[in-house]
Amino acid sequence: MNKVKFLKLFGAGESLNPWPNRLNASREIAPVTLPNCRLIKGIETGSEDIDILPNGLAFISSGLKYPGIKSFAPDKPGEIFLMDLNEDNPRAVELRISRGFDMASFNPHGISTYIDRDDTVYLFVVNHPHQKTTVELFKFVEDDSSLVHLKTFRHELLTSVNDIVAMGPDSFYATNDHYFSDFILMFLEMFLGLTWSNVVYYSPKEVKEVAAGFYSANGINISPDRKYIYVADVFDHNVHVMEKHANWNLTHVKTLQLDTLVDNLSIDPHTGDIWIGCHPNGMKLFYNDPENLPASEVLRIQNILSEEPAVTRVYADNGSVLQGSSVASVYEGKLLIGTVFHRALYCEL
Ligand SMILES: *[C@@H]1O[C@H](CO)[C@@H](O)[C@H](O)[C@H]1NC(C)=O
Ligand SMILES: *[C@@H]1O[C@H](CO)[C@@H](O)[C@H](O)[C@H]1NC(C)=O
Repeated sequence: MNKVKFLKLFGAGESLNPWPNRLNASREIAPVTLPNCRLIKGIETGSEDIDILPNGLAFISSGLKYPGIKSFAPDKPGEIFLMDLNEDNPRAVELRISRGFDMASFNPHGISTYIDRDDTVYLFVVNHPHQKTTVELFKFVEDDSSLVHLKTFRHELLTSVNDIVAMGPDSFYATNDHYFSDFILMFLEMFLGLTWSNVVYYSPKEVKEVAAGFYSANGINISPDRKYIYVADVFDHNVHVMEKHANWNLTHVKTLQLDTLVDNLSIDPHTGDIWIGCHPNGMKLFYNDPENLPASEVLRIQNILSEEPAVTRVYADNGSVLQGSSVASVYEGKLLIGTVFHRALYCEL
């Protein structure tokens, strides 16, 4: 699609905001607490993306090395954890990955699961080996808690993928944020309000840009009826609703403006509510100042397609418990909150 046209559609063209605004540098937050929260043992170096299967098994990507952002274990390869949320006191178990896959350079980012007709569970993982972008496809083997590596997807349009949402056993939508392909470009986008970030559809037959004109398209997910795609624009502080068409193209339906940096989106499969891990103040993520920790905030959006969607701050913490929340996912009245580089928190709703 024509980027200028798309920009105008979003009304984003005029807003050449100075960059501290993009990072919401001045915002301080009031705490919102939830009952019975506990930190998950074993997750110490990030839990940036979480995907929960209908049966309560949760996949968590951990150990992302992101240019400019802290890592508690810069030399340790990334990991995928599994938690069984049906247990009273679920633990995070690292999934073993089949031999032949290059674990040393594993740098997992966004993840997405796909359940095939024969109940095979596929896990798509955005990977940044040596600062490049690939999408890795694994088959999940529950019997021995392992992942069998099946395929690596690479394409010139998969420039710097942040997140993906699986559409089939070998197709997906992906957001490109330019972070890994060109750190400078990403900062230019932030400073100058350039909108070069996009959404790409990938399948073996066809790869194409299906939406453009984002400041920094981050989390992406799909409505339970599979008609709409939601895209979080982290530096534009909003969530875009896009309609999905038979040819996989996306058209803009509406934009919901928020006052926080929206990271990953997760959808409640029963209610369709959108759960978002947010950074109330993006500057603190980059500062890495122990006196001024990056905060965490979780928003729930109900009825996004209605005239007046309800936005609720479900959880907020100044960083003393949880730093830099990036995703929040629900299962059976519980909330699992992940972070960019810190721990993971499990609470009752
Ligand atoms: C999820 O959150 C992490 C942490 O900020 C972020 O780096 C990543 O871009 C997000 N990825 C997804 C899965 O949206
Ligand atoms: C963060 O919040 C905790 C609990 O609400 C409070 O005790 C602490 O003083 C706060 N820290 C800062 C730096 O504001």
